[in-house]
Amino acid sequence: MKRIEVALGARSYAVEIEAGLLDRAGTLLARYARRGRLVVVTDAHVAHAQLPRLAAALGQAGIAMEPILLPAGEATKSWHELARLCDRLLTLGVERGDHIVALGGGVIGDLVGFAAAILKRGCGFVQVPTTLLAQVDSSVGGKTAINTEAGKNLVGAFHQPAYVLIDPTTLDTLPAREIAAGYAEVVKYGLIGDADFFAWCEANGGALLAGDPEARAHAIAVSVAAKARIVAEDERETGDRRALLNLGHTFGHALEAETGFSDKLLHGESVACGMALAFRFSAARGLCPAGDAARAAAHLDAAGLPTTLAAAHADVPGAKLVAHMAHDKKMAGGKLPFLLARGIGETFVAKDVALADVAAFLDGERGR
Ligand code: NAD
Ligand code: GLY
Repeated sequence: MKRIEVALGARSYAVEIEAGLLDRAGTLLARYARRGRLVVVTDAHVAHAQLPRLAAALGQAGIAMEPILLPAGEATKSWHELARLCDRLLTLGVERGDHIVALGGGVIGDLVGFAAAILKRGCGFVQVPTTLLAQVDSSVGGKTAINTEAGKNLVGAFHQPAYVLIDPTTLDTLPAREIAAGYAEVVKYGLIGDADFFAWCEANGGALLAGDPEARAHAIAVSVAAKARIVAEDERETGDRRALLNLGHTFGHALEAETGFSDKLLHGESVACGMALAFRFSAARGLCPAGDAARAAAHLDAAGLPTTLAAAHADVPGAKLVAHMAHDKKMAGGKLPFLLARGIGETFVAKDVALADVAAFLDGERGR
């Protein structure tokens, strides 16, 4: 079993990764089952695909499971579902010392983490991520949030899980499009700071997408180790370190907003297109070789991910996309930091980018 520590002093925790771990969850989660019970929050798809495995594992260990099923999809990260979930947790008598289990993708993890942060002024939670995106990114690091009318992830808290259990075999029931979307976040680790890992992705990405267990386990372990390192250095994104994880996200959030946070463009797909745009924008400003921008986009393309405005269903005027960026929570004093690149594996935070230049660049991207 691969064990990675997220070193955060008193709030440190382990991420454990191994095929078949979900079937051993009874033993692994026993220490979080106060009074012999665990509340497990999941969504309708995961309830069908993976909850029976967790139920069986907890049952074998004599742990009573209280499942809470929520609708699947980004719309579940809402005030409405947050209120319903908190009411349900209170009805079940969840106490401060209890741990709530989040079984699902980033939507369930972000919502349950936020509910845990505010319920009784903070109780514990455990992440059992079941999408590639959640296994390589969202389940680690303690960012929790819901979306509001004004935009994505605008209300939330930093609240670290107590433990993260990753079983790559849960991905066997995940649709191919969701695997590809999660793969964008894997590639991100190569693009932001690990050119060798990007080259590994070029060589092994096809196998990973096709279901190769070794390629999946390796990519998850490398990604989690990178994220754990960055989170330990800059937990609350007060410096520039954790901000690197946002490569492609400012462009991506604008694309997601333009497409209505819908199935038209999944979060990971928006990140893929956002990363391609960030590299081309960097190349256009003379910061990064055009060849590196083309190489990054070619690999994302080969994974079936969108890398142009048209492919992201957002071939609209640049000013319209930039208007969505105005709601970004990183906006400070009218300026928005952008993640730009000097090359593959070399990204940095640029604080001097004029939004008018971004709009002009995006206009040039139209019809590509
Ligand atoms: P998701 O949670 O919506 O899951 C995608 C789909 O796959 C859903 O329909 C879900 O029901 C289904 N599913 C999940 N696991 C399955 C399985 N094993 N088998 C079959 N179906 C399964 O989406 P996601 O891509 O995991 O997460 C996206 C969310 O994560 C976004 O809201 C994004 O903002 C957030 N996010 C958070 C962070 C963070 O640091 N907190 C980082 C990245 C993304
Ligand atoms: N996914 C970005 C972060 O966790 O900081």
